[in-house]
Amino acid sequence: MAAGTGPRRFVFATGNAGKRRELARILADCEILSLGDFPGLVLPEEGDDYAANALAKAEAVLAATGVASLGDDSGVEVDALGGRPGVHSARYGGPGLDDRGRCDRLLAELASVPDPRTARFVCVAACALPDGRRKTVRGECEGTIVRAARGEGGFGYDPIFVPNGERSTWAELPESEKDRLSHRGQAFRALLRWIDDPAR
Ligand code: IMP
Repeated sequence: MAAGTGPRRFVFATGNAGKRRELARILADCEILSLGDFPGLVLPEEGDDYAANALAKAEAVLAATGVASLGDDSGVEVDALGGRPGVHSARYGGPGLDDRGRCDRLLAELASVPDPRTARFVCVAACALPDGRRKTVRGECEGTIVRAARGEGGFGYDPIFVPNGERSTWAELPESEKDRLSHRGQAFRALLRWIDDPAR
C-alpha cells in the first residue's frame, strides 16, 4: 500500500491479540500502537450495533491519548441461527469459554443443520481523528461453517470457517490469503483510503 496523506500513526482500540496481529499486517506501512502502550485505559461496554461499538472504542481511545485511533467491532453471523452470534460473538457461550470452546459450542449448536451452513464474517472499522473527523466502514466475507475444526493459525472462529471460493479454513490458509479476503482486510483498507482522501 502506498503511503498517503493522512495520519500514519494510530492507537488500535482493542484488547484482542488476534485482531492486533492482523491489523499490523493489513496496515503494514502504518505505526500501530496498542492499548498496552497506555496502561489504565478502559474500553467502553459493547452494545448491539457493530458501528456504534467500533466508533465508541476509537473515540474513547482518542479522548484518552490524543492520538488518531482505530476501532474494530466484528463477529460471525450464521444464517441457520438467524444471524447469531453476530455482534455478540466474543461473548458467545458465556465468559468461561476460550476461542476453542466457542468453536466447539457453535459446532454443537449446528450439529443437526445440514451443509452448507452459510455464514459471514462482519467487521466495522472505525476511526476517530484529532482533527474531528469520524468514519465507519463495514467489510463482509461470505462462507460456510465446517463440521469439525481444522488448522492452527488465526484466532477466534477461524478453524471452523471456510470463505467462499476456498476449501481450507481460515486457520489453514496463509495469513496473506486471509487478509486479502477478510472482512477486516476489506474494512481497514477502505478506511485508510478514506483517511487519505475523504472525498472518495
Ligand atoms: P469484538 O469485536 O471485540 O466484539 O469481538 C469479535 C469476536 O468475533 C472475536 O472475539 C472473535 O471471537 C470473533 N471474530 C471477529 N473477527 C474474527 C476473525 O477474523 N476470525 C475469527 N473470529 C473472529
